[in-house]
Amino acid sequence: MAEQVGDKAAGLEALRRQVEQCHRCGLRDQAHGVVFGEGDPVARIVFVGEGPGQEEDRLLRPFVGRAGQLLDKMLAAGGLDRFHGVYIVNVVKCRPPNNRTPTLDERKACWPNLSAQLRILSPNIVVLLGATAVRTLLGISRVSQARGQWYERGGVWFRATFHPAALLRNPSWKAGAWEDLQAVIAKSQELGAGGAQRQGT
Ligand code: URA
Repeated sequence: MAEQVGDKAAGLEALRRQVEQCHRCGLRDQAHGVVFGEGDPVARIVFVGEGPGQEEDRLLRPFVGRAGQLLDKMLAAGGLDRFHGVYIVNVVKCRPPNNRTPTLDERKACWPNLSAQLRILSPNIVVLLGATAVRTLLGISRVSQARGQWYERGGVWFRATFHPAALLRNPSWKAGAWEDLQAVIAKSQELGAGGAQRQGT
């Protein structure tokens, strides 16, 4: 286990250095920096968002603005936290100007970065936060179409849910998002994703 933590952490660090040099699309030139992602290198659950916002671009960390605070609260309510059993990434690693949705070309340009992260992390479960992640990883255009079921791809289980920023705009969707998270937790327990939930919480 200790060996696996070390291997994955080293693999992610090497990839981070590589992604920091990425200029495959124009986003890097306008952003402050690359938001690689963060979390537990041996996470069994990976959360995938859209792309960094202003606060993320400032701090070079994923989901640290208002949407991120909501995500952290939801994780905590489910006995999870971003540094234990969980890893958080985005479809694009550089902030789109004015927080616009990343274009298809930008998503394609960043795909080698995301797919390399997923290859190293090799999670059991990938949670897709919002339409951009759902489109990129499942090829389904709407979250509402994809929610409520599991998609298995190459031994990895994918689940779609609302983006936390959408929950801030539509608080009535929070109950559905909570159901989605509970399904994720139940699945991780079923798959024996030991350590995904904090002990004693
Ligand atoms: N929204 C995202 O999709 N990702 C972040 O990191 C922050 C906000």
